[in-house]
Amino acid sequence: MKVGIDMGTTSEGTSASLDIEELLATRLLVQGNSGSGKSHLLRRLLEQSAPWVQQCIIDPEGDFVTLADKFGHVVIEGERTDAELIGIATRIRQHRVSCVLSLEGLDIEQQMRSAGVFLNAMFDADREYWYPVLVVVDEAQMFAPSVGGDVSEEARKVSLGAMTNLMCRGRKRGLAGVIATQRLAKLAKNVAAEASNFLMGRTFLDIDMLRAADLLGMDRRTAEMFRDLKRGSFVALGPALSRRPLKVTIGSVETSARSTSPKLMPLPQAPQDVEDLIFTPDPEELTRPIMRRAAP
Ligand SMILES: Nc1ncnc2c1ncn2[C@@H]1O[C@H](COP(=O)(O)OP(=O)(O)OP(=O)(O)O)[C@@H](O)[C@H]1O
Ligand SMILES: [Mg+2]
Repeated sequence: MKVGIDMGTTSEGTSASLDIEELLATRLLVQGNSGSGKSHLLRRLLEQSAPWVQQCIIDPEGDFVTLADKFGHVVIEGERTDAELIGIATRIRQHRVSCVLSLEGLDIEQQMRSAGVFLNAMFDADREYWYPVLVVVDEAQMFAPSVGGDVSEEARKVSLGAMTNLMCRGRKRGLAGVIATQRLAKLAKNVAAEASNFLMGRTFLDIDMLRAADLLGMDRRTAEMFRDLKRGSFVALGPALSRRPLKVTIGSVETSARSTSPKLMPLPQAPQDVEDLIFTPDPEELTRPIMRRAAP
């Protein structure tokens, strides 16, 4: 069945169509700096394709939970034991229910573990449940980093292994990876290389631009155009999108992200006793345990 969903408008003024069945076989990589509109693009893709295909979203910020009200996605909080996550992922495949794995509030190590365990369980589903699922991973560089960071080797292995399975061996099992990243240079090469469709948004750093050019098979000088892209504009290429690089402006969405870009607003009138206000401790403060945030 050929289903073309409408992603927005092309620079030629036509509708930008994305072939969902082709996407299932050829996967998608989205790249763009912070604020370029990747999450908006993923939301557009998810909303438009929701009636046609099962979806699973790995959501580090809890941004996509708003899909639940309108489209019926089940929200799964990521803070669970491995056994629970495996059980849920298995039933998600059996019953073909769309879901959002929300990892908001977990530390990076736990996010990687939960996402890894969940994705691996989806990958390991029994053959009779290998129905097609779009697996969307926002901030994919967190789950498939190109270099080791501060997290334990074990968490990194689980997460990177799961992402590699998704992108390299998922197709036969019905899993179609759609991954988005701020920085191509931070994403593991083998994970990026398995996508045949690309949507490249605004990119400033040379190192990312060059990797994008290489992936798209573009002349490096032509890749300079990624610098001038506006928010919400992407260069599309691949069998599910366009046979030659085509500029696309992503259309509007029906649900909203929980987090939006900060807007300037006037500061409140400074109170007279501002020093008192800041330096007088509240009684609980002295008994509260000190939280230390791990370096990202
Ligand atoms: N095509 C678009 N039309 C209208 N608004 C858009 C469009 N694309 C993005 N925006 C708005 O721009 C802001 C930033 O977009 P978004 O959150 O998608 O960026 P991002 O690339 O995911 O950034 P980050 O990497 O920091 O998560 C959001 O408020 C979003 O609603
Ligand atoms: Mg985002």
